[in-house]
Amino acid sequence: MAKGHKDKVAVITGAANGIGQAFAERLAEDGVDIAVVDLADGAATVKLVEAAGRQAIYVKCDVSSEEAVAAMAKTVNAKFSHVDIVVNCAGIFPQKDFAEMTFADWRKVLGTNLDSTFLVSSAFVPGMRKRKWGRVVNMASSTFGSVVMGFAHYVASKGGIIGFTRALASDLAGDGITVNAIAPGLTRSPGTLARSPRAGFATMEDEFLSVAQMQAIKRVEAPDDLVGAVSFLTSDDAAFITGQTLNVDGGRVRT
Ligand SMILES: NC(=O)c1ccc[n+]([C@@H]2O[C@H](COP(=O)([O-])OP(=O)(O)OC[C@H]3O[C@@H](n4cnc5c(N)ncnc54)[C@H](O)[C@@H]3O)[C@@H](O)[C@H]2O)c1
Repeated sequence: MAKGHKDKVAVITGAANGIGQAFAERLAEDGVDIAVVDLADGAATVKLVEAAGRQAIYVKCDVSSEEAVAAMAKTVNAKFSHVDIVVNCAGIFPQKDFAEMTFADWRKVLGTNLDSTFLVSSAFVPGMRKRKWGRVVNMASSTFGSVVMGFAHYVASKGGIIGFTRALASDLAGDGITVNAIAPGLTRSPGTLARSPRAGFATMEDEFLSVAQMQAIKRVEAPDDLVGAVSFLTSDDAAFITGQTLNVDGGRVRT
């Protein structure tokens, strides 16, 4: 068990699937109760958390909506007396050529990936401040340090998340709250499996295998490759680490 996790409470957005679900299962194993926040059904994640011996609640919420996040926070606060950890993992990654990208496409990605990170953090930071302990973990992406086409909105959202992480870390350090980001490489998840492959690849599997060849560790990344990072960054052991973006991508991006 990671130091400082026992009986903590985490809100994890995007926890119904993929990386967020793996985070929920791991933090539950570490001794953390979990609020599973997602638009998609979170019942499977709730079962995983309960199987690990912790409490869970699923709250359906569009994290890009200020009203929906306020309602979600009310439900979570009614179930748990405190929230110590926020993991902003909900995200979308629709590929679109810049020539065809509309302002609506841009707003949708920025709203889902970046506005949500602000809204959900804002909802739970005041409670962390009162208790002088908190952890915020945001999701960046290796695409921010890579050559990728058709992701101007997505890469911009992840750059915004890295900037927000750095700035918020400075604002909250005095209250015992750290703010960090994790940057995964291309990871096999329900979201990426449902995507169309990039130009030049017949299938997503071809794209996964090709990206793996660009990594020092040449196998396809899985959600479980990321759980150690979230466990560490939300523990007492990481109390002196803040404002950082940790690349967890098999050694692909070096920054
Ligand atoms: N999989 C990758 O290759 C990869 C790489 C780098 C970064 N990431 C980031 O990791 C995070 C998780 O990715 P994943 O691969 O697990 O994706 P996924 O699509 O498998 O899961 C994302 C979850 O977010 C939820 N979600 C989407 N929009 C939402 C909204 N408006 N409100 C609430 N929930 C919403 C979805 O319902 C889904 O359950 C994202 O932020 C993504 O950008 C993923």
